[in-house]
Amino acid sequence: MEEKQSLALVSGANRGIGLAIVAGLAREGVRVLMGCRDLARGEAACSPLREEGLSVCPVPLDITSETSVSNVAQLIAGEYGSLDILVNNAGIALDYDPSLPVVERMQRTLAVNVVGTVRLTEAMVPLLAGSAHPRIVNVSSELASFGLRGTPTWEYATTVMPTYQASKAAVNSLTLSYAGLLADRGIKVNAMCPGFTATEATNFTGSRSPEQAAVIALRLALLEDDGPTGTFANDQGRLPW
Ligand SMILES: NC(=O)c1ccc[n+]([C@@H]2O[C@H](COP(=O)([O-])OP(=O)(O)OC[C@H]3O[C@@H](n4cnc5c(N)ncnc54)[C@H](OP(=O)(O)O)[C@@H]3O)[C@@H](O)[C@H]2O)c1
Repeated sequence: MEEKQSLALVSGANRGIGLAIVAGLAREGVRVLMGCRDLARGEAACSPLREEGLSVCPVPLDITSETSVSNVAQLIAGEYGSLDILVNNAGIALDYDPSLPVVERMQRTLAVNVVGTVRLTEAMVPLLAGSAHPRIVNVSSELASFGLRGTPTWEYATTVMPTYQASKAAVNSLTLSYAGLLADRGIKVNAMCPGFTATEATNFTGSRSPEQAAVIALRLALLEDDGPTGTFANDQGRLPW
């Protein structure tokens, strides 16, 4: 019997790395729901992919909103019954915004990168539990790696983004926690770093393309059943926590 087409949900999917992950998954034959805060921007991002014949569909998703997240969960439950892949990609970085006091930067950043990621993960776990090969991929950053930050010769050793780094360190911790909590349901949970990528988040100064950034996310989203859980990696291999 043919296996049913896999279903993925990617948050922050209307641009940048999220959009490249959507395209990569869809080209692998996955049906992809594109979580977008603004549906019109989601439709615009989606249309060239549809023209390519890919199975992609924008859905309204703001991970800071309980209602928005629960609406997506209900949509998936009603239309598809289960979810195979969740990519927690949505994220913000406010360290270089001089208009915001540090405490507000921290509150806003944690609300999206950490609390939002938990909110979406919690809502999707019951749907992932219905999948034969459930996977969660958390988009993190090597800037949060304590191991690398403690290495003076590391190329970003002098980069200090206190609120962003704290938020992604929390994402890394959550990756290990969920990997442990969800192991008995076969849900593999891994974190990845896309590398310094040319997107709106970096004012397009990054040296990597979103397509290069997406490679490791795709690998972890499409992991075989004997693949790892509770790891942190980039496309070169494992990263230290
Ligand atoms: N670019 C890099 O060098 C780099 C390096 C390491 C890690 N990362 C991580 O990679 C991920 C994607 O970043 P990117 O570079 O592609 O950035 P980006 O172009 O700024 O895209 C961020 C995406 O997140 C969405 N988003 C923001 N707040 C949201 C919310 N409350 N609910 C739902 N979606 C929300 C944005 O939606 P709107 O368009 O509506 O704002 C956008 O689609 C982030 O987690 C980032 O921290 C990036």
